[in-house]
Amino acid sequence: MPESSYLICTESPDVTQAAAVALAGLHEEMLPRPFRVRSKRMETIDTVTLEFEAADGGPPLSFQPGQFTMLYVFGVGEVPLSISGDPEAPGVLAHTVRAVGAVTNAICALVPGDSIGIRGPYGTGWPHAQGKDLLIIAGGIGLAPVRPLILNALAHRDEYFCVGLAYGSRSPGELLYTSELEAWNARGDINVQVTVDHGNPTWRGDIGVVTPLVRRLRCETDDTIAVICGPEVMMRVVARALEDRGIASNNIYVSLERNMECGIGLCGHCQFGKDFVCTDGPVFPYADVAYRLGIGAQ
Ligand SMILES: Cc1cc2nc3c(=O)[nH]c(=O)nc-3n(C[C@H](O)[C@H](O)[C@H](O)COP(=O)(O)OP(=O)(O)OC[C@H]3O[C@@H](n4cnc5c(N)ncnc54)[C@H](O)[C@@H]3O)c2cc1C
Ligand code: FES
Repeated sequence: MPESSYLICTESPDVTQAAAVALAGLHEEMLPRPFRVRSKRMETIDTVTLEFEAADGGPPLSFQPGQFTMLYVFGVGEVPLSISGDPEAPGVLAHTVRAVGAVTNAICALVPGDSIGIRGPYGTGWPHAQGKDLLIIAGGIGLAPVRPLILNALAHRDEYFCVGLAYGSRSPGELLYTSELEAWNARGDINVQVTVDHGNPTWRGDIGVVTPLVRRLRCETDDTIAVICGPEVMMRVVARALEDRGIASNNIYVSLERNMECGIGLCGHCQFGKDFVCTDGPVFPYADVAYRLGIGAQ
């Protein structure tokens, strides 16, 4: 009998067996798989993009843009991180990580060849916007969770009408994926708008918050999907600017962050009102969360 079934208090062997099977499934779902660092790129002074490959000979980790995984640094701890790579190349799993504490510092210190445990993918993904206009608005590290969506939209560009990206960061040195931003802009089939809160002597672009850039993103149809990822205050302000443009709140999507432990809806750490961010989110229609974000309810 599996060890987990000792937790079940029942006289019925059928119920005991069903519960044991369910618990064994959960145990399986929470077990990290070994991955190895394949490459590392410094994005900014405190942020790196790491590419991982499975080290257990198992299948690649397929995911939907917007989903996250739990990364476990052996002996240090585990954190949720959005997947930032190409969904059509699942053999290479990319994460873009800002070092803010114990675990993220340990992840940023990894070098090619190092091992880590990864489980997932978990959570909801960004909506499908094929056949529509797609507007993407990101702030700071919030460009990482939307990068898979951008890569996928550009790989299938003919399936969308207008595609636009507005991205803001605090300073030029804190912009992510700078060479990719230039390459996307050079394509001419995606409207890329970038701004920084504070420029420097060499910065020739926009200065200021990202909200005014939203007005510059063109739409061709009345059917627009907008996705926003960044600090909550920025997402609220941008969502209101999009609504002012006539985009309905149920066509606007946001990605939320809350402290997580299990990542699979068991522990309640990520509870946000009636929802668990790990399973009901992290991507939510703005219409579903606007009120709770407004009052800061958790
Ligand atoms: C669904 C999801 C996706 C995420 N994706 C990314 C990503 O792609 N890249 C990335 O760099 N980070 C991402 N994060 C945030 C990341 O999980 C936290 O930075 C990490 O858990 C911090 O752990 P730590 O041990 O390094 O720091 P800690 O020592 O735990 O905390 C350091 C500081 O960060 C704050 N903090 C801790 N957890 C969070 C959190 N979840 N949100 C905001 N502040 C937090 C703490 O209050 C403290 O001030 C994501 C979080 C979630 C929930
Ligand atoms: S992290 Fe445990 S319920 Fe969401």
